Amino acid sequence: MRGKFITVEGTEGVGKSTNISCIEQWLSSKGIEFITSREPGGTELGEEIRGLLLGHRSTPVDDMAELLLVFSARAQHLSEKILPALNKGIWVLCDRFTDATFAYQGSGRGLDTGLINTLAEMVQKQLQPDLTLMLDIDPEIGLARVDGRGERDRFESQEIAFFERVRQGYRKQIARQPARFRVIDASQTQKQVAQDVRMALDEFAARC
Ligand code: TMP
Repeated sequence: MRGKFITVEGTEGVGKSTNISCIEQWLSSKGIEFITSREPGGTELGEEIRGLLLGHRSTPVDDMAELLLVFSARAQHLSEKILPALNKGIWVLCDRFTDATFAYQGSGRGLDTGLINTLAEMVQKQLQPDLTLMLDIDPEIGLARVDGRGERDRFESQEIAFFERVRQGYRKQIARQPARFRVIDASQTQKQVAQDVRMALDEFAARC
């Protein structure tokens, strides 16, 4: 049987890393074979593209160049890592996927959603995550958390209005495909967030 594809999404400082560890513990406790990966990244080429995208530059990055780089990394990630794992029955847990493109490049940068849809169809065909955990937080609270970690990257350096648009972009994605999303209030204590994450996974497993 094909493996399941779980993605984790949210704006900056939402606690993705901590909650990905929590999901890994849940998967291990169920004896499920899985790999964890991230976007942009996950492969040698993808991680190089990640560096290009997140690093600061002396001249602005063109929005279309940014979009195409994101999808270049994704094409490599799918063919080298995600699809081979899923086809072997291995579950894939991924820190961000195409919902982030609709949110950041679509709503954040203002690029056409139809164009993103076309690229998504070209690159990932019919593949969609089976479950997407959306960690939701007021971007202002999230960015304050990011500041505790050191220098902000190129995305983290955007103004607050950008992240408000990204959050709205995620909401549009949830409205488009509500069945695969579970929205978790990430402003709660980590203990409560982890409990909600486990509950979402238990419900998902019961449906599988
Ligand atoms: P993060 O994985 O550490 O959150 O950083 C990745 C950054 O890349 C984050 O700011 C969101 C951004 N990003 C996009 O703009 N579009 C995408 O499609 C993906 C996957 C990430």
